[in-house]
Amino acid sequence: MRLRNASLAFGDRTLWAGLDLDIREGEFFAVLGPNGSGKTTFLKALLGAVPLTTGTVEVGGRAPGRRGDHVGYIPQQKMFAPTTPMRARDLVALGIDGHRWGIRLRSRAVDRRVDALLAKVGATEYAKVPVGLLSGGEQQRLRVAQAIADNPRVLLCDEPLLSLDLNHQQAVSGLIDAQRREGAAVVLVTHEINPILDYLDRVLYIADGKFRIGTVEEVMTTEVLSELYGSRVEVSRVNGRIVVVGLPDATTHAHAPEPHQEEQPA
Ligand SMILES: Nc1ncnc2c1ncn2[C@@H]1O[C@H](COP(=O)(O)OP(=O)(O)OP(=O)(O)O)[C@@H](O)[C@H]1O
Ligand SMILES: [Mg+2]
Repeated sequence: MRLRNASLAFGDRTLWAGLDLDIREGEFFAVLGPNGSGKTTFLKALLGAVPLTTGTVEVGGRAPGRRGDHVGYIPQQKMFAPTTPMRARDLVALGIDGHRWGIRLRSRAVDRRVDALLAKVGATEYAKVPVGLLSGGEQQRLRVAQAIADNPRVLLCDEPLLSLDLNHQQAVSGLIDAQRREGAAVVLVTHEINPILDYLDRVLYIADGKFRIGTVEEVMTTEVLSELYGSRVEVSRVNGRIVVVGLPDATTHAHAPEPHQEEQPA
């Protein structure tokens, strides 16, 4: 993936600007930052779902968003309606054959692949349950299985660990990393860096219209985060984990202020 002088703005609000970035095959890349900083929008730009305001983006040397691109996507979590007429295994099968032929081709091979994927994410037990009746974490594991079903060359994951218990956080991070080891470029949005610390090559940290790119050691420091947030933020390591203290309350941008309120400085 290659971005050159990329910027994205909605109206007069710029999420990020002047972004030059290459993410290579086999790289595990995380996107961090407070709510509303532009992480999901960054993934959508890589998907070709949101046009850049300036600059260029290429995935595999071409404009993103073409049919047949080997891109796996785990969207930010939204629940299935309880009445969604689809079983867990049908959802995973869509990752194999759904997008390619439009209709699902059933075959023994597809069934076996779905079984293997369900087992990988620990979903065998609920393979035949309608997805809308599953818990948030159970649904999330299916989304992961669906996204890796076709061995994507690029895997874009928007908070894939959300609502997973610790065991499944580790299992799912391991699965995503396995995809990376097979050569996929992984871009993963997260609010929680610790579960993926061992896998990470680089991070993009976005806050308040500014960003920093580098290794964890380069970006996750008191100096860098304090500068990004414009206030004192302490970063320390405790038993190998990264602990960030002092994130400002209003880390998101001020939405249009209420008429009777003064706009607060960030
Ligand atoms: N199509 C759009 N039109 C106008 N504003 C938008 C649009 N899409 C996103 N935004 C705004 O851009 C900002 C960034 O949104 P985005 O979803 O990228 O944030 P995020 O970093 O993923 O946040 P979160 O951690 O809450 O998921 C938000 O303030 C959002 O309201
Ligand atoms: Mg988001």
